[in-house]
Amino acid sequence: MKRIGVLTSGGDAPGMNAAIRAVVRVAIYNGLKVSGIKRGYQGLLDGDIEDMNVSSVGDIIHRGGTKLQSARSMEFMTDAGFEKALNVLKMFQIDGLVVIGGDGSFKGAKRLANAGIPTMGIPGTIDNDLEYTDYTIGFDTALNTVVSAISNIRDTSSSHGRVNIIEVMGRHCGDIALYSGLAGGAESIIIPEIDNGVSETCKKILEGKHRGKLHSIVILAEGVGKPYELAESIEKNTGMETRVSVMGHLQRGGTPTAFDRLLASRFGARSVDLLIEGKKGRAIGIKGSEIIDMDINEALDLEKTVNDELYELAKILAI
Ligand code: F6P
Repeated sequence: MKRIGVLTSGGDAPGMNAAIRAVVRVAIYNGLKVSGIKRGYQGLLDGDIEDMNVSSVGDIIHRGGTKLQSARSMEFMTDAGFEKALNVLKMFQIDGLVVIGGDGSFKGAKRLANAGIPTMGIPGTIDNDLEYTDYTIGFDTALNTVVSAISNIRDTSSSHGRVNIIEVMGRHCGDIALYSGLAGGAESIIIPEIDNGVSETCKKILEGKHRGKLHSIVILAEGVGKPYELAESIEKNTGMETRVSVMGHLQRGGTPTAFDRLLASRFGARSVDLLIEGKKGRAIGIKGSEIIDMDINEALDLEKTVNDELYELAKILAI
């Protein structure tokens, strides 16, 4: 292992920069050369690759986004694109690769690993949708952004005695909604994994109103969607004025929290250690407070589950 490549792929996530920084610096510390691959797998196909040194990753630990930029490459998914990627890696003498991204990016990493390229997957996505790890890089920052938005919206919700729906990201996963709803004291949390129906939400809202609650916050995961239809239905069933806020990409940017920077630094370091040890395809994660790694095929085979304990607790606390 003489030279490793690093790329960020898929939706960006705060903390990706801290992960890139750790990969580059731990690699250089261990005498390796590092190639920064721009725009994910698409940059790999285009040969958009540059040498990185210690200074290339200076002044980025606190920045959201990704210095290497990101993309979702359709070409890489094709057989021809994949073959081209293998050739480019050979051409640039890249012996091992670190892929920072979500499940789509991990599928690419898995394919590369199974084709014989030592490839490490670092989970970087705000969605927290990978089962094998407790947390992905960026989730904590997004969560804090959403919780702060909930506090702001709660002020105006109380002033007007309204229902406020806040739609959050997460693709098919309800973790951002569940964790932020619990941390933000939302009255109702609607996630794709659990079908609780509009009537339960309306019942909760009315019960709260009758007890003198001034605000009602409903956190809706984008995987469920249709926030404006939900608003109409809530207005019809409760008679309460209802407003919608879609968090959108606001929750994908911003300076990463200390938690995400630590996670990213530890993940980055482990990925390089594994490449030096000669490992082939590993997914890096955290369980409890311990950094773990497992076979990337096995990691991707695990189906994401919802944290029932948190969901039940959120329901109890929102009575
Ligand atoms: O995977 C991260 C994510 O932000 C999802 O939560 C969301 O569904 C998607 O990316 C949005 O993608 P884009 O930025 O390409 O619109």
